[in-house]
Amino acid sequence: MIVPPILSEVHPDISQPARLLLSLNENPFGPLPSVRHALAAATERANRYPEFLPRRLPRLIADRIGVEPRQVSVGSGITGVLMHILQEFVAPGERVVMATPTFDGYPILVGMVQGQSTQIPLAPDGRQDLDRMAKAVEATTRLVALCSPHNPTGSRITKDELSSFLAKVDPAVPVLLDQAYIEFDVAGELTDVGSIIAQHPNVIVLRTFSKAFGLAAVRVGYAVSSPELAARIQRWQVPFEINAFAEIGVEACYNAEHELMRRVERISAERDHLARRLRLLGLDVPTSFANCIYVAHRDEIEAEILHRGFEKEGVLVKGYPGGTRITVSDREASNTILSVFTS
Ligand SMILES: Cc1ncc(COP(=O)(O)O)c(C=O)c1O
Repeated sequence: MIVPPILSEVHPDISQPARLLLSLNENPFGPLPSVRHALAAATERANRYPEFLPRRLPRLIADRIGVEPRQVSVGSGITGVLMHILQEFVAPGERVVMATPTFDGYPILVGMVQGQSTQIPLAPDGRQDLDRMAKAVEATTRLVALCSPHNPTGSRITKDELSSFLAKVDPAVPVLLDQAYIEFDVAGELTDVGSIIAQHPNVIVLRTFSKAFGLAAVRVGYAVSSPELAARIQRWQVPFEINAFAEIGVEACYNAEHELMRRVERISAERDHLARRLRLLGLDVPTSFANCIYVAHRDEIEAEILHRGFEKEGVLVKGYPGGTRITVSDREASNTILSVFTS
């Protein structure tokens, strides 16, 4: 029997008092007034159930990104859709290939469906090792999970890299392309979801409103895929699962998209500033296309000193065996981070 991980051990209690919450790659900005107003107005109807099965939300998203509504499967964040995908494709004992480290949700949820994670270490440059990941696909592999931009390093995958990876993988194996941070990578080559799916029918693109759109608390994410794969994913849609605030929040965000993307530009500029300053201190910070940066530790002693420094300043960051992931916020937060590295 495969025992799923104990979640309270994977995710520390974040209710502890902290001055700066930089451990979950959230958006530092609260909702825009128009989004806040729409969500507040929706509370008036909180006594009513939302749609039995979501129809309007997938249509709203599909119209915006240029695919058919039946290709969009929605859930409680990417995490929720991912659970549906795993329920459909992965039986106990079957395998999912992923990088390590990656978004914690992958090994956790694979454990919940009693699947097995094949975890491939990142290449020395901090990018997903696509060659090794392709070679790791075996007869019992039911899914592969790629991220672009990647969590925690922020690296991106190019169009050619994706095509040559997919050419090596059995097309019967669905490949997740997790784009939780895609809005921070406007110059990337994999922004047109419609053409990715049309070219590679075994790809399932995952996106979320938790990051650039700043709706992490509302829990809205979606998968875009071929209609055939979507029909399989949607078999697991739980009645009334998508709360009414999801649709209202997404509509309000789309109406304010221009303003929200200006915030994304600010965060991206702050990310580049912080990375530059840390590199000037001699630190190894890979180029990031997400809203976080990853600082590789030179040794255990440095890791321990940093850990204590962040704790003393009341800054929550995310530690890995070989480095620290820091969510990018504003200039004041960057200065606090820099002070930890220089003290
Ligand atoms: C790569 C990646 N995918 C998915 C998620 C989860 O997103 P959601 O809030 O939509 O469940 C995260 C959150 O950190 C992430 O980093």
